[in-house]
Amino acid sequence: MINNDVFLRACRGEQVERVPVWYMRQAGRYDPDYRKIKEKYTLLEICKQPELAAEVSLMPVHKLGVDAAILYSDIMNPVASIGIDFDIVKDIGPVIHNPVRNAGDVDRLKPIDVERDLSHVLETIKILDRELKVPLITFAGAPFTLASYIIEGRPTKSYIRTKTLMYSEPKIWHSLMGKLADMAATYLRAHIQSGAKAVQLFDSWVGSLAPHDFKEFVLPHVESIFASLSDLDTPKIYFPGVSSGELLPHLTDLQVNVIGLDWRVPLTEGRRRIGGKFAIQGNLDPYVLTAPSDVIHEHARRLLDEGMKEPGFIFNLGHGLFPEASLEKLRDLTEYVHAYSEERIAA
Ligand code: CP3
Repeated sequence: MINNDVFLRACRGEQVERVPVWYMRQAGRYDPDYRKIKEKYTLLEICKQPELAAEVSLMPVHKLGVDAAILYSDIMNPVASIGIDFDIVKDIGPVIHNPVRNAGDVDRLKPIDVERDLSHVLETIKILDRELKVPLITFAGAPFTLASYIIEGRPTKSYIRTKTLMYSEPKIWHSLMGKLADMAATYLRAHIQSGAKAVQLFDSWVGSLAPHDFKEFVLPHVESIFASLSDLDTPKIYFPGVSSGELLPHLTDLQVNVIGLDWRVPLTEGRRRIGGKFAIQGNLDPYVLTAPSDVIHEHARRLLDEGMKEPGFIFNLGHGLFPEASLEKLRDLTEYVHAYSEERIAA
């Protein structure tokens, strides 16, 4: 049973007694106990053992004092169910053995079957729902970000094959995006039915597109995911990822509660661009965490002073935690955000 719902109230823009905190990629390699588990099992092996996956999700909640848990999984996990073979390779990331590059490849993709192929994920969510005192966030990869892996076959800096398909074969492109959108919507609905209290759509790399291309080639599919979940009042978060500032004005019709901002956009400017309709989440540059504590506090204070000007602010990073981050500094930052915001709200 949840006894701390400050994160859910902030998602809805309601009154809070302090600013909630969680960190993207909070379950992971900065934690020596996680690294020990990783000596024995790969990410996918952990995900297939619900008790262990739940344990990994719980670790940052206990160690960092954050106000939300995030499911230990990866954005790639559900694509196995639609017919894509992949591994997550150390020091590289997702590597796809049968990349999708033409009409035949797209036609061969099957609809997702969550019960058949991903029951271990639902089981992990159910365990966490029983054990957690804070809300559980689950997530899916957004169509563009997943497409960038499954078309390229591995992480890319240029997105050359992805953009080639997008600009040259718009019909094939939209068909692929439609299938990935259906997959995400079905998968997230199953998460919510199993006990997820909030869902986030990760579109980490969509900021590589010009705004008008985002609008034409991607946005309709992101909109369709959230439209198809609009009967569920579970808070929904869209994270348009790195360098997404120029895309923000196009997000005003999304049926979400929260938009995640990256650190290049000042919070007030981000709020203005999305029309003041949504709660915001962000946006500390993760590498600020390399600085001494007083410098980290200074950056956090600046974000809090700005973020707290309006209701609906969730403290987070502007992108995921990096492996070299320090547990002690993260715990200290969480405490600082709580204490400073509580004091300001009480005053
Ligand atoms: O946030 C969490 O703590 C929950 C777990 C989580 C993972 N991946 C586990 C993981 C989440 C939310 C993700 C999302 C994810 N995966 C994204 C979106 C967020 C972002 O960072 O932009 C993306 C783009 C991926 C794809 C992916 N998975 C990459 C590029 C890599 C390799 C790079 C890296 O960080 O190592 C992965 C592997 C991965 N996913 C790891 C973890 C903990 C690291 C390797 C491992 O521990 O096995």
